[in-house]
This record gives sequence, structure tokens and C-alpha cells, in this order.
Amino acid sequence: MKLYTTLEKQLKKEPNFITDNGELKKWVIIDKARIFDEQLLVLLLDNSELKEKFFIQVKGNLHFNQNKFIAFLEQKNYLNNSYTQYKNKVGLTIDGKYIKQRNEVALVWPFKDCILEGGQSREEDKREEIFFNEILAQDEITQLLEPKVLTNAKRIDKDGENPLDQFNRNDNGTITDNLIVKGNNLLALNTIKKEFAGKVKLIYIDPPYNTGSDSFHYNDTFNHSTWLVFMKNRLELAKILLSPDGSIFVHCDDNEVHYLKVLLDDIFEHNFINTITVKTKVGGVTGSSEGKSFKDSTEFINVFAKDKKQILFNPIFQLTPLYEFIKSYEEQDKSWKYTSVITTLEGKTKLKESNGYCFYGYSSFKSKSVKQFAKDNNISEEDVYRKYSDKIFRTTNAQSSVRKTVINETQDCDYPIISVEYSPIKGKNKGNKIEVFYKDTERNMLMFLADMIIEENDIVYYKEKISTLWDDIQYNNLSKEGGVDFPNGKKPELLIKRIIELTTNEGDIVLDYHLGSGSTCAVAHKMKRQHIGIEQIDYGSNDSTVRLRNVVEGDRSGISKDVNWQGGGSFVYLELKKYNQTFIEQIEEATNTDSLLQIWEQMKAKSFLNYNVDIKKQSEHMEDFKALSLPEQKQHLCELLDKNQLYVNLSSLYDSDFNCSKEEKKITKDFYQIKK
Ligand SMILES: C[S@@+](CC[C@H](N)C(=O)[O-])C[C@H]1O[C@@H](n2cnc3c(N)ncnc32)[C@H](O)[C@@H]1O
Repeated sequence: MKLYTTLEKQLKKEPNFITDNGELKKWVIIDKARIFDEQLLVLLLDNSELKEKFFIQVKGNLHFNQNKFIAFLEQKNYLNNSYTQYKNKVGLTIDGKYIKQRNEVALVWPFKDCILEGGQSREEDKREEIFFNEILAQDEITQLLEPKVLTNAKRIDKDGENPLDQFNRNDNGTITDNLIVKGNNLLALNTIKKEFAGKVKLIYIDPPYNTGSDSFHYNDTFNHSTWLVFMKNRLELAKILLSPDGSIFVHCDDNEVHYLKVLLDDIFEHNFINTITVKTKVGGVTGSSEGKSFKDSTEFINVFAKDKKQILFNPIFQLTPLYEFIKSYEEQDKSWKYTSVITTLEGKTKLKESNGYCFYGYSSFKSKSVKQFAKDNNISEEDVYRKYSDKIFRTTNAQSSVRKTVINETQDCDYPIISVEYSPIKGKNKGNKIEVFYKDTERNMLMFLADMIIEENDIVYYKEKISTLWDDIQYNNLSKEGGVDFPNGKKPELLIKRIIELTTNEGDIVLDYHLGSGSTCAVAHKMKRQHIGIEQIDYGSNDSTVRLRNVVEGDRSGISKDVNWQGGGSFVYLELKKYNQTFIEQIEEATNTDSLLQIWEQMKAKSFLNYNVDIKKQSEHMEDFKALSLPEQKQHLCELLDKNQLYVNLSSLYDSDFNCSKEEKKITKDFYQIKK
């Protein structure tokens, strides 16, 4: 028997605790609990299950767990009624004290330790969410989060799609297939958790921003806390999936960025790297907001590491046409430092080899200003920069360990300029030979302009190490990317490319559990990364699977030209096997009361209903049900379903009630590597 039923039965033994209609007077009981009312405590102690749940033993003495008892009653009250009682509790507090009283910051909100399943199977559905309470319904949550049975598995490649009978695995036994998982991401993340824990190098997510127009709109007062519960449940799983040197990029706008940062700090234990500001399309301010707010033109990406100490980002540069860059420097009154051209650099002599470095010296070194050089050679300064970039230099202080090694090793060499060749063992330049020049007397290093520029399509660009302001990525004309239409929130392939380039190398695993139109997987696929995408909504002809098919077949849009994408590879499509979710979808589709009543007959026979649903009572009140509006009838039927049973649990694979097919059993066992 469920705890609530036991409690209800026991409390109803006391006539003062029941109304004339036979309902429990919850608020009277809560008041009694607050004053440790003896009559109440005796009732609870008389039942062994209630005694165990609401009392604790300390040194042989029993103590009433008042908070737990009251929370339990309030929780049930919430499920039946409203959130109103919690609305004043949102705030930044630590140990229950508001930050005005403390110097540290923590984010505390109602239902923080609950699970929010966050289900939605069609874009327009804004379902009222259920908070599963972690402490008091632990058994139910375990079921909810159990790994699920897999269904409808197929592999898609250039030759089309084929049913999947086995996953590909590497020498360590890890799946190497790219995966698109259709289903609720909380449950899907729990499903892939064991297989991919500690193996994902990059997670990029672009969740609903909680703008009021997305699925969190249903209750404004609780927008922030509902959204935070939703994010927290999933971010905790994300952290488990990340590899020790992995990182997570969480995209959002200014509705939630500040709350999100505090939440991320909490979950990722202050492994904060940066917040990136992305310049997007300029949004409009219309209607009632006119004159009351500014036009929106930015979004934010919070970047966190699993472990800051183990992070090493690949060097990435932003490009600006060289001469434009120099002019903008001058316009901003900043001093442009690449102003000298080496005219003679002669007499290269090998001095010595030591510690993997090879040292050279030069016997003569002369230089001129760019201006003078242009004049002497009768060419424009712009041409000097374009043509002699390998001779144009600036000096800088020796700081890195390589430079310090050079200084130490060459103390006794009296050459005017010293160079060193070395091969980095990590990062983008791994294995390449790099030559660094030092001016002997001041031990200043020479940096050449050639190392700071790149020529593309006959244009010479200055490369600047990427900063936290990304204002160079086009947000226009995205509708063409990937051959799928996704008006709300499709991200530019170039943006995803930059993130993937910064954080991963070929073969690394990239995960996006808010896949949308599939931008992340499309880009990861073109960049030869292994990818996993999770999305709950089937977008039909604009679905991520359609986009990935286009990619496999050689999609020419987005970053294809940059990475010379010619098509190829494959991906595996999977679904979490639905159970009660099928009823929810039928209810959503129904257009009249008669169809809903037919669904109700089926639900009684086949579905799992909430434990506190009394089928007899439902039938007795059929006329009341018919008097409701169609949306209310739909909502009522959805509420009767046990949300723990939306999908089929792995533990029910052989349970005849769930009717799992031979194919489902085979592929599910293969995924979880179940031998028998
Ligand atoms: C802003 S869109 C992502 C767009 C994506 N970055 C792109 O470029 O196409 C957010 C996506 O998260 C999905 N989503 C929201 N809640 C989810 C849940 N509980 N499970 C799975 N997907 C969810 C939504 O259906 C939506 O497609």
C-alpha cells in the first residue's frame, strides 16, 4: 500500500481530522504537527510504516521528523491544488539566510530537490508539469529514471536505412555509432548514462529559454523555479557523462542567464571558464514593451569544465581583413606594433641541441620601419604588409616556459639573435616544428606578422585569439542550413563549429540533449566527431533525422565548404519505448468527448493509473466529467496516468504486459550489453 493511503487511513481514525465530506483536514493536521500534538503523534506511532517514515531513533529515543511530515502533507496538497503556498520562497539564500545577511551566494528555490520530467511531445503542448519529490516518493523516482527499453532502431547511411541488429563498439567496448535518441531527455540521459559516463568530451545545449512563449509559460510565478528544476535534473546527469577533460556550453538569453550561472556554479563546483556573449539578429521591441526595454541583440553561452585543471582548449582565431584591422587600431588610438621589417638576417649557425630543442644563432640582423621600406621600394604600405609579413616583426617579453628555457640555455651565446625550434607535445600545433626568435641583448622575443595572418580567397586576414565576444557569426539566412526549417532557435553551424573546434578533436564524443533541428549533430558529423543527439519532438519533414540524412548524403549548406564535406558516415536512430506516453499522445490527438471516453476505457484496461485514482469514483462522476470543456477533459485524463510509466523500463523487458518484440529485446540487450 502506498504511504499516502496508509497515512490517510490512519489519520481518518481521529474524527477531528475529517471534514463532513470525509476528506482529511490537512491544514488542521499540519497545525497539530507544528505543536507536536500528542494525539497525532500517537496515531502515527501506532502504525509501523508511518513510525519508520516520520520518526528517527537517536540513542534509543524516538524523535518526530516534523519537517518531513509537514512537507509530505504539503506535497500532496500541491499535487492536488496549487503552488501558491511556495510563492514567497524564491530567492538567493544560503543556509536559509538571504544573501543580504551573508557574503556568499547560493541559489535556493522551491522544489529544488524534486525531479521535473518536463514532457512535451508536440511543440504547441504546454503541459502542466509534475514535480516528483526525491525524499518522499523515492521508489517512484527510481522507476521514472530507470533505463528504458529501446525500439524502432535503425542505421541510416548513404544507401538508406536498415533495421539495426547490433551496435558498433571500440576496443574498450564503448558504442562508436552516432546516435539520435527520440524521447524525453531526462529519461534518455538516464538511459545512456552507464554506456557513456565519463566519455563525453563536449556537451552543447540550447534549452528552451523560458521566455514566456515556450513550454514553461503555464505558471508565471514559478517560471524561474520550474525552469531551474528542469535544468538541474539534467545538468547533474550531464556532469556524470562528461570526461575528466570535458566541458559544457549552455546557451541561453538574458531571461535566465544569471540564475543559470549560479546553478552551474553549484553543480560544476565552481569550474567556471567564461560567459561568452554572442551577437545575434537584432530583435524587435513592439506593442506594450515599446519605450520600456531595449532591442535584444545578444545571447549568452556559459562555459564550464568538469575539471578546470584538465581543460585545454584548441587555439581558435577571429579573422579581420589585415589592413582594416590596422586602420581600426589607428582609429582607436592604439599603437600597432608590427612596424619593423627585417632587411638582413644572415649567418644561421646551429649552436646546440638540448632537451628536444634545437638552438640556432644569426650573425647579423638589420631592420627598417614599414613606412621607410615602402618608400624605398616604391610600393604601398598595404603591399608591404601583404608581401613581407614573414619579415615584419614586433618584440615582446619572454614569458612562457619555452621562452624561459631558451633564455637559460643560451646564456653563454653572444649572437645578436637566437632562434629555437621545438615541437609542442599538446594542442593544435602538436608535432609541428615551431621556430621562435629572440633578440639577444634584451632577451626580447620577436614575433612575426606572418604567424598572425591567414590568406583566404585572396584576402589577407589578421587572426586574433578568440575572446568572449562573438560578434562575427551571421545569424541571417539560417533557414537554408541543413535543409530543414526550424523558426524557433536554430543555431548557426559556424557557431557550433567554433565550439567543437575549441573543445574536441576528431573521434571525440559530442552530446546535445536539446537537439531541435539537429545543428550540433550535423556539424559534429561533418567534423568527424562521434555525436549523440536527444530530442523529444518529432518535427516531421524538418526533423533532425532528415537533416542528418542530408548530411550523410553530402549536404552543401552551413560549414560544408569550410570543412570540404563530401558526405558519408552513418547514424543510428532509436526511440525509448513508450507505454503511458502513447495514451497521452492519443489524448492530445482526440477531437471530441466520445473519443476521450473510448481512450478512458482502454486506459482502465491497459494503462498504469496514478496510485490514488479510484476507478469506481471516476465512473460515478462521469456526468461531471462530460460537463467539462474538452481541454479540461484532456487534462483530467492525463492527470490520471502514472507518469512513471510513460516509457517501458528495462526491468520490464520480459514482462508480458509490455509486449516487447523480438527485435526490441535484441537491440535493448545489445545496448546494455546484457548477455543472457
Ligand atoms: C531551442 S531548441 C534547440 C535548437 C537547436 N539548437 C537547433 O539549432 O536546432 C530546444 C529544443 O529542446 C527540446 N526539448 C525541450 N525539452 C525537452 C525534453 N524534456 N526532452 C527532450 N527535448 C526537449 C525542444 O523540443 C526543442 O526542440
